[in-house]
Amino acid sequence: MNTPARRVVGGLEGVVVGQTRLSRVDGQAGRLTLAGFAVETLAPAVSFESALFLLWHDRLPTPSEHDRVRAELAEARRLPAEVLQVVRAAAKRGAPAMNALRLGVAALGLTAPSDVRLVGAMAAMLATYVRHPNEVVEVPPEVDHATALLWMLHGRRPTDTEARALTTYLVTVCDHGMNASTFAARVVASTGSDDAAAIEAALGALAGPLHGGAPGPALEALLALRDRAPTTLEAATVAWVEEQVAQGERIMGFGHRVYRVRDPRADVLAAAAKALLADSSLLADAQVHERAVLATLSRLKPDRPIATNVEYYTALLLHGLGIASDLFTAVFAVGRVAGWTAHIAEQRATGRLIRPRVEYIGPFDRSVAAATR
Ligand code: SDX
Repeated sequence: MNTPARRVVGGLEGVVVGQTRLSRVDGQAGRLTLAGFAVETLAPAVSFESALFLLWHDRLPTPSEHDRVRAELAEARRLPAEVLQVVRAAAKRGAPAMNALRLGVAALGLTAPSDVRLVGAMAAMLATYVRHPNEVVEVPPEVDHATALLWMLHGRRPTDTEARALTTYLVTVCDHGMNASTFAARVVASTGSDDAAAIEAALGALAGPLHGGAPGPALEALLALRDRAPTTLEAATVAWVEEQVAQGERIMGFGHRVYRVRDPRADVLAAAAKALLADSSLLADAQVHERAVLATLSRLKPDRPIATNVEYYTALLLHGLGIASDLFTAVFAVGRVAGWTAHIAEQRATGRLIRPRVEYIGPFDRSVAAATR
């Protein structure tokens, strides 16, 4: 006799699948804690190296530990030939950046990479992809990871303001509870498979528009709507949201599975973006657009609190750094790989094989003879 399946929970919504010391997402209060630090105090104050060390060791590094992580990341940004080859092949074929990263990690897997190798290589693979067919510029090893990424992407040393803005972004997105890509990484790690395979799975999950693929389209929508003069941006936004929702579409940059109020990361990133967009009207337009989206979604979906999520101001910050919108998700991966590696380690140390159940709703006792008569 089949034991009755327990209640099916679509999308595992609200299901607690484990314990972690890495981050806590409080969806009701709109708070994110990263290993004991509130995101709004940590992200603007520390380097990506420090955030990475914090996730790996549950404390901030000493100055010498910080410098060691920085040096290890610099070494990890030097890619093996086979990684360069596959990333360049993907770029040559015009494959999306996230596909190039997945291929690059698979090739890196041939070298049984360490955590720091996986983290450092993610940035270098992105730069290799963007700069193709040109070589990535040599970056002095003593610069921090965010500075190195911008330098490799743009071929010039970034300003302090630019480097600080990207650092704040990478720290802000470094970890976020049991999101889909982190869960994918933990499932693969829970089987005993290797770290590269787990990161490949995470990259595959992050690429989806419902997860990490949202900031590009969010920016594109804002830029298109602000150019519809004489219609005001507010009126154009209201009409556009009504049209999208009527077609069953989602407004990218808004809504969240856990947050029922404004994502606390939105304000951290808006502040960082402000420093970059100070002499442009884009930020003011973005706030007009945001207010119109929120008001219209509230009117159309009165039973569902839909607030601004991390992706909306991610889009503005990365745009302000001169990064193309089709690269936004890949930059997200450069930051989130810190959390993925920490979760993989946590899964190996404390977790079990992740194997949920599913309720079978198909037929029984079918006859082959009858089916092939
Ligand atoms: C990230 O999980 C994480 O932590 C992820 C992340 C991280 O750091 O790892 O925070 C990063 O993924 C942020 C989210 C980025 N995605 C987007 O911006 C895409 C747009 N957002 C939506 O697709 C949506 O809000 C989700 C997918 C993020 C969450 O949706 P849920 O929890 O699955 O909710 P649902 O699909 O059941 O929707 C409930 C209702 C539906 O309406 P009805 O069909 O019941 O009438 O709310 C509506 C939805 O249509 N809705 C939206 C909407 N979000 C929800 N309608 C329009 N636009 C939206 N953005």
